[in-house]
Amino acid sequence: MMFDLTIFINACKQAVVSENAEQVVADLIQKALGSPEALRQVFKDFGEEEDLVHQSEGITIYHVRLSPGIQFPPHDHGMTAMIGVYEGEETNAFFKRNGSGLSPAGERTLNAGDFIQIKQGGIHSVVNNGAKRAAALHVYMGHLGNEHRSCWHPQTEEEHTFDMEDYFRWAK
Ligand SMILES: [Fe+2]
Repeated sequence: MMFDLTIFINACKQAVVSENAEQVVADLIQKALGSPEALRQVFKDFGEEEDLVHQSEGITIYHVRLSPGIQFPPHDHGMTAMIGVYEGEETNAFFKRNGSGLSPAGERTLNAGDFIQIKQGGIHSVVNNGAKRAAALHVYMGHLGNEHRSCWHPQTEEEHTFDMEDYFRWAK
């Protein structure tokens, strides 16, 4: 089936009030990944970094493009996050809190068609180590913009209240 953005958003909004909301949203994202050409068409005029697709009380949806080599700083979300990559590759590096700083806790590279779910409290940074631009759906099980969360300075590893300007400024 082809991917339709309005249907996807409405299905996600309905899912969050269902009993096993996370599983339903995970299934919706993975189903969408089965139509990469349709995703490319739907998002072809979206921006070069992050575009907010939808945000409401129960769910936030971003379309995220990553240029080769770009790395965004470690951050958490305060809620479950789900990532589905449909083009290129996105490497997620995971971290644990270590005193006032962070310790590495593994990484996973997502290729086109791959999906991960990051639990509430999970800390990650994202980088595109590939040769071509990556594109992905990032879906959060709540209102991400209203959430008090953290971002860590990539050099000092100092924890800061998440701020979108810092997040882009600290990208490299
Ligand atoms: Fe994230």
